[in-house]
Amino acid sequence: MIILGIESSCDETGVALYDTERGLLADALHSQISLHAEYGGVVPELASRDHIRRVAPLTQVALQQADLALTDVDGIAWTAGPGLLGALLVGAGFARSLAFALDVPAIGVHHMEGHLLAPMLGDEKPDFPFVALLVSGGHTLLVAVEGIGRYRVLGETLDDAVGEAFDKTAKLLGLGYPGGPAVSELAKKGDPDRYRFPRPMVDRPGLDMSFSGLKTYVLNTWQAAQAAGDDSEQTKADICRAFETAVAETLAIKCRRALKQTGMKRLVVSGGVSANRTLRTRLTEVAREAGGGAFFPPLRLCTDNGAMIAYAGAQRLLAGQRSDLDFSPRARWSLEDLPPIDAPA
Ligand code: KG4
Ligand code: ZN
Repeated sequence: MIILGIESSCDETGVALYDTERGLLADALHSQISLHAEYGGVVPELASRDHIRRVAPLTQVALQQADLALTDVDGIAWTAGPGLLGALLVGAGFARSLAFALDVPAIGVHHMEGHLLAPMLGDEKPDFPFVALLVSGGHTLLVAVEGIGRYRVLGETLDDAVGEAFDKTAKLLGLGYPGGPAVSELAKKGDPDRYRFPRPMVDRPGLDMSFSGLKTYVLNTWQAAQAAGDDSEQTKADICRAFETAVAETLAIKCRRALKQTGMKRLVVSGGVSANRTLRTRLTEVAREAGGGAFFPPLRLCTDNGAMIAYAGAQRLLAGQRSDLDFSPRARWSLEDLPPIDAPA
């Protein structure tokens, strides 16, 4: 079964083709980073318009990559939420009309389920059950995963998502957008002993998290340095290092706690921030201590892409699930509302 996957929830248009027998056949991506960079963040209306421009040509690119024709497609999966409503509507409208025209089944996919299952596209695939840490620009969640669609949210951020905290830190230090890669690059040159930032909410029981205080810590530290006449690149690097270490340590403590609480041994880490090297190293240690392993998506599938949507949609289409023609995208949508794979959608 060949599934066309379409992602358009935020600032990346992704179109991929996944074959349930042969695996990933094509994965085309257009990033809008340069479009939003001058505004320092995603402008929703510009994002929607750019998705409109890109989605059809990108579908042609994916078909060419796989050496297939549209008529070879057996089903279509698109991101139905959560995300920017206008951006989601573009993907949904395109995918739903194409499925109607081709007379093939279609399914709306939960964006975070796409991230959660993305490690299945890598060389080392986790067996169920596992704890998933989902860290992206819009979400930070710890989830107990018993199977596809069997999700229990264990904890989440009460304010900023981890990716958002990286992006805001970068903005405060004048490092541009998106912030994650820039902050982690500069952190490599930072002195690990110069600053120590707090590990938020680790002294409280439970698995909820909070990252907005860290951003304030960045601001105060940077302003104090500047007031003392120091606005050097080295100081920026030292702040990035302290910030990244605090994030990685906080997430390590929460993941260790989640593994202990659930009795699970495997840890899946996914979403844009799972591309972060420091975090990967730290969480690999945590999962090893728990007696299981840590699983990540291949690096290029950590951030938004069509492949993860094609994969998640393929699993649900294979199980006979379908979305009706009048299915609407959702800006907000809990993972816990998804049906298990063996139930009707
Ligand atoms: O999953 P994603 O592509 O989009 C959302 O669903 O939000 O995640 C994007 C986020 C951004 O906040 C970006 O700064 C962050 O992932 N990110 C990183 C790294 N690469 C991307 N954060 C830390 N380190 C990285 N290497
Ligand atoms: Zn995402």
